[in-house]
Amino acid sequence: MIDFRFISPTQFVFGRNAEEALIKESSKLGGKILLHYGGGSIKNSGLYDRVKEYLAKAGTKVVELGGVKPNPVLSTVREAIDLCRAEGITGILAVGGGSVIDSAKSIAIGVPYDGDVWDFYSGKATVAEALPVGVILTIPAAGSEGSNGSVVTDEDTRSKFASGSDLMRPVFSLMNPELTFTLSPYQTACGITDMISHVMERYFTNTEDVGLTDRLGEALIRTVIDAAPKVMADPEDYEARAELMWASTVAHTDIVGLGREDDWASHQIEHELSAQYDVAHGAGLAVVFPAWMTHVRKENLERFIQFAVRVWDVDYVAGREDETALEGIRRHKAFYESIGMPTSLSALGVTDNRYDIMADKAMRDGPFGGLKKLSKEDVIAIYTLAEG
Ligand code: NZQ
Ligand code: ZN
Repeated sequence: MIDFRFISPTQFVFGRNAEEALIKESSKLGGKILLHYGGGSIKNSGLYDRVKEYLAKAGTKVVELGGVKPNPVLSTVREAIDLCRAEGITGILAVGGGSVIDSAKSIAIGVPYDGDVWDFYSGKATVAEALPVGVILTIPAAGSEGSNGSVVTDEDTRSKFASGSDLMRPVFSLMNPELTFTLSPYQTACGITDMISHVMERYFTNTEDVGLTDRLGEALIRTVIDAAPKVMADPEDYEARAELMWASTVAHTDIVGLGREDDWASHQIEHELSAQYDVAHGAGLAVVFPAWMTHVRKENLERFIQFAVRVWDVDYVAGREDETALEGIRRHKAFYESIGMPTSLSALGVTDNRYDIMADKAMRDGPFGGLKKLSKEDVIAIYTLAEG
């Protein structure tokens, strides 16, 4: 196990009516907040009206900026930073999913910063200060409600970059599984794929003697696999929705990644797809991950066999190691298909070939990936394998 430091300062409030805790928790955001949300789902569900009511009860002043798009964009972040400065905003309340939360985190680091907020994403600056961010989560997926990261797209250059700092971890996250009943099967499945991927990015490592985090990761994936068909059959299955909601958080606070080198190549390769084609992050991962697994498995076959046996109950047959690993990948891919995810680029709607452009962008800081350092040729081979 590698040495580590870990902090997760977020107050999680979980369960039916969790959002009511806003009346008490909102003081952590100061006296005048930016209410930040997406394209309308919170208005359709009635959550927006309740949030306004709770904030009024708390005596919090509110300025609003909705309209955050999935795969949130830099222009909205910049607009919000100007608004926050003009209004003297003291904290941001994100009501929505990863896109709204990531946009809120970006605003939070941008407001006190003297330069352009993109500096934090392009690697020119590190975060030294941030406004507090609070969350009411409506889709379990990205794990941004507990993570130290934010992912934003510069739509002018089609660059989707991440920035990370513990200062970005939300001060509170209010999580009511009932708020996720209105998710479409597709959004639900995208979320399931993303949370599983967050575990896998950490699970596939060359670090040895990481038994606890291995078992935690396997338990997480098995729990999600178990809950998935239940919410597909009954979108209002509270217990299964609750399992998924907490799994999305645990998968990405980093508790399953501590003490081990993680990978993140598949996320990098997917972010280029999202940046070029504006596809849903989870759907992109369902296409990229099985291709990455197939391409790199021989780097650490033992680990892929362990995954196949412990997560997918594949029988281990001595002398047939590669077949065992491949069977695990096959079952994993079949699971994504069973929940309606695309597992090939063509099923994702990507029919032209921009592999060279995407590989160059992915390689901007040189070879990447923890389990196997990928070259440009590797990245192109993975996109090619993903053609299906
Ligand atoms: O915009 P609205 O109308 O709210 O609709 C959203 C959106 O269209 C809808 N939705 C959300 N909650 C709903 C609902 N519809 C009905 N009922 C509800 N309760 O779902 C759609 C997708 O929302 P989005 O926030 O985009 O989804 P997600 O949480 O998957 O976030 C994706 C973004 O997070 C980034 C991704 O790259 C992507 O940009 N990620 C952030 C990470 C982080 N900060 O730690 C890590 C991840 O790996 C990921 O990269
Ligand atoms: Zn992700």
